[in-house]
Amino acid sequence: LQGVRFIGSGSAVPAKILTNAELSQMVDTSDEWIASRTGIRQRFIATKGEDSLTSLAVKAGQQAIAAAGITPTDLDLIILATSTTDDLFGTAGKVQGLLGADRAVAFDLSAACSGFVFGLVTASQFIRSGTYRNILLIGADLLSRWVDWSDRRTCILFGDGAGAVVLQASEQDNLLGFELRSDGKGNNLLNLGYNEDKSTYDPITMNGQEVYRFAVRSVPEVIEKALYRANLQTADLDWLILHQANQRIIDAVQTRLKIDADKAVSNMSKHGNTSAASIPLALDEWVRAGKIKPNDAIAIAGFGAGLSWGAAVFRW
Ligand code: ACO
Repeated sequence: LQGVRFIGSGSAVPAKILTNAELSQMVDTSDEWIASRTGIRQRFIATKGEDSLTSLAVKAGQQAIAAAGITPTDLDLIILATSTTDDLFGTAGKVQGLLGADRAVAFDLSAACSGFVFGLVTASQFIRSGTYRNILLIGADLLSRWVDWSDRRTCILFGDGAGAVVLQASEQDNLLGFELRSDGKGNNLLNLGYNEDKSTYDPITMNGQEVYRFAVRSVPEVIEKALYRANLQTADLDWLILHQANQRIIDAVQTRLKIDADKAVSNMSKHGNTSAASIPLALDEWVRAGKIKPNDAIAIAGFGAGLSWGAAVFRW
């Protein structure tokens, strides 16, 4: 049993919604600017004392476990992909404890907005090597904690959330191909870095135009590579789920790859950019809506800080 199959998904967002109109009261921006440049209309934002990275990750994990029809003690491994951990020593251990996944090994994995794709590939190696049988992979981020709410260039973009899938060892291998990349030369384009003078982390800084160019250039390449490894053509895909960073990036990549617009999943308008959560959140919403069906061929691609980017092609 060394193939990988997907047996359940889940997701969670905070209750509080922050609309573009409300943001326009906080910084010099408008619904028109934000919607036309990014596709975003609102985002979910964590409330202090109510939501934490841990609480959202646990909720998404519980849903995925229930959908998979297994119990927490069936889990062998929990990987929490996040860049906004509640605890710099890691949050996965706490999530494991709260889920009651007593047998599971748990660790955090940090690869910014590529975290879910990197986590999927990491998890699949443990299955393919025959080491573990049931794995919970969670992508969760609370970037609202780390944006400068007076910087209109960044604060309009991000939202909070968590998404999860359960992977299981099986005879058939539904993870058909993947491609991961890193380029440290572009590291300065997107940072959430430690400031020694202030003895804390600085808010997110981003060169939006350069990141945009990088995404539109690099994402189609890794999708094509993953498709090649999967022995599939773009026409064989039922769904394209990109990291939800900007509707214009989704449109540009889908057009470049000649994939039908209605196959390019987008929940941008509702969630904004939820970093490592965006792909599993969109996946779960499309599964629960009955749009994604068993055996559908899906390409996912993440991209972001590092720079890091990657794609995977699988059957649901
Ligand atoms: N409201 C109104 N005006 C604004 C706003 C705002 N919220 N933000 C910027 N502007 C202004 C700028 O000041 C600038 O004005 P100027 O010409 O007078 O200087 C003008 O609008 C244009 O700014 P640009 O930065 O050129 O706008 P652009 O069209 O590039 O859109 C955006 C900016 C949306 C950030 C885009 O570049 C983008 O989406 N980039 C990609 C970001 C991304 O994908 N990140 C993913 C990784 S995230 C991760 O890994 C955590």
